[in-house]
Amino acid sequence: MKLIQLAALLLCIPFYTSCGVSDKEEMIDASNVAEESSVCERIWTEDEIDYHTLSNYMDVYVSHIHLDVEISFAEKKLFGSATHTIENPCNKDIIVFDSRSLDVASITLNEGEEATYEIGDLDELLGQSITVHIDENTESVTINYSTTKGTRALDWLVPAQTAGKQNPFMYTQGQAVLTRTWIPCQDTPGRRITYSAKVKVPSHLMAVMSASNPTAKNETGIYNFEMNQSIPTYLMAIAVGDLEFIEIDERTGVYSEPSMIEACRYEFGDMGKMVEAAEGLYGKYQWERYDVIVLPPSFPFGGMENPRLTFATPTIIAGDRSLTTLVAHELAHSWSGNLVTNSNWNDFWLNEGFTMYFERRIMEELYGKDYVDMLALLGYQDLLASISSLEPKMQMLKLKMKDLDPDKAMTDIAYEKGYSFLRLIEDLAGREKFDVFIKDYFTAHKFQTMTTEVFLAYLKENLLEPNNIEFNLNEWVYESGLPENCLVVISERFNSVEAQLTAFYETNNVSSVTPQDWSTHEWLHFIRHFKPETTVDQMAILDDAFHLTQSGNSEIAAIWFEKSINAGYNNIDDELEAFLIRVGRRKFLQPLYNALAATPEGKQKGLDIYVKARDNYHFVSVSTIDAILGYSPS
Ligand code: BES
Ligand code: ZN
Repeated sequence: MKLIQLAALLLCIPFYTSCGVSDKEEMIDASNVAEESSVCERIWTEDEIDYHTLSNYMDVYVSHIHLDVEISFAEKKLFGSATHTIENPCNKDIIVFDSRSLDVASITLNEGEEATYEIGDLDELLGQSITVHIDENTESVTINYSTTKGTRALDWLVPAQTAGKQNPFMYTQGQAVLTRTWIPCQDTPGRRITYSAKVKVPSHLMAVMSASNPTAKNETGIYNFEMNQSIPTYLMAIAVGDLEFIEIDERTGVYSEPSMIEACRYEFGDMGKMVEAAEGLYGKYQWERYDVIVLPPSFPFGGMENPRLTFATPTIIAGDRSLTTLVAHELAHSWSGNLVTNSNWNDFWLNEGFTMYFERRIMEELYGKDYVDMLALLGYQDLLASISSLEPKMQMLKLKMKDLDPDKAMTDIAYEKGYSFLRLIEDLAGREKFDVFIKDYFTAHKFQTMTTEVFLAYLKENLLEPNNIEFNLNEWVYESGLPENCLVVISERFNSVEAQLTAFYETNNVSSVTPQDWSTHEWLHFIRHFKPETTVDQMAILDDAFHLTQSGNSEIAAIWFEKSINAGYNNIDDELEAFLIRVGRRKFLQPLYNALAATPEGKQKGLDIYVKARDNYHFVSVSTIDAILGYSPS
């Protein structure tokens, strides 16, 4: 027994070795430790355990995946094979993969030998295990499979759901536990893989992945991809459609349907500068290219940080670059999340809180402190709202997501409490020291996974102790609510907006409101601060003056619609319905359907719209809105 294990035993710290038995609960039983064999050196702490995989990734694991798949739009099906190169240092006799709603046709070992395997019963949260019998000669496992109708990651769009209206489109969303629904794999952020792929698509379409990408279509419809930097499986992604590519600079570019490409060229014009600013702060960009693909509006998120190729919603194209903070965010994930990855979904704040902090630093480099104060204050408002609505156990940075859907971790706690925590440390240490610390942290842990506890130990050792910094760190990380020493952001620009809104309420006259030089963020602050008792007449005065119902800016439209629903201002009805049918971004849908569901008539209105809109939404949004409206498809 090693010293560290002995120490852990004495301190009653649960841990297990990679040579334990495959049941995770048993693995943390210290009695297994003594039998550890010399080649199975890795000791896992309980904090590292991913409870959202059925795989035995701690015992035997995959180092590379090769996909050989074809995409059939006629059958709405992806089919072919996934070949897993495996590492089996402890000579285990089974490897377990995650899957969900996949048809497995056959499994072979070493690219030819028939394998024996069992497929487990469906676990509602985690899917189905695929247990494959292996021996010491097994170097690879090939699973021949196809996706089925219920495949949650995939969104199949008919031409009418695209910008061009001529061609179908398909994209995947892997985070958090959806990659297993289109690739049988050990679907855990606890291990990293490299991947390669050969993908066949209809020859008039182009395929792109979170990997090296084509910049033009080819006649064969066959595309080859390589991702040589190791990533967690939730970052595997593909999109197929009528795509065009334009370069922003030598390292950055945008993919979109042809009819949107010119709008993208302008909107994302600062992308190259963002990458340079990010590198200036926290070290070399490690993924070669940074491109963005703008997807059809059904995409359920604002953005997804698929490496080399951020997936983005078209709702950030505002015509004035005002919503491209999202690009800074997804780019920031190239360090926080993609380079240093949360070890499991309890540590999700490590991905998102760091990314919010980094996002705002990038924006500060490009657009200055005043601009970022607005972003941070809007974020702080979101945080206060989350703290008043979330149950206490969901208000900690470090979560306990076992037996819960990891999607539920996506709240402003991870994002904005995480941001505020790091912002406070920056304040305590001083920016200069904090920047050195963060840069070193990314460098020291690149291409690794991270737990909250390892981060905190690193923080103490490298920043807090050397500088004699003491503060209520445990309260921040392990307790609910917002600690009193959370820094409050002040934005002069927002103060002026508030004064104008107050004047409006005093006079019911818009002459006091002078939004000529307002950015989107000032508009958001203005509309967010409408009083709950705002009347229909007041809404009408504002609408007549500023045409908010017709706003082409999705963020402004969404908050205006929400306030209109709350105030009973029905003039928005046609635009609201059109918006809810066209846009599938959950961040917009959730508050709007919630607002509608607050009254019986509103709920009926919401249901009437939802039956028309539901087909346009990805599974991620469907599952959330079904729950809000109590809808179950017949
Ligand atoms: N990685 C997230 C999206 C995500 C989180 C997908 C959890 C699935 C599970 C992405 O980076 C993100 O945070 N997107 C935000 C962007 C915003 C904060 C700028 C979004 O989509 O709203
Ligand atoms: Zn993010």
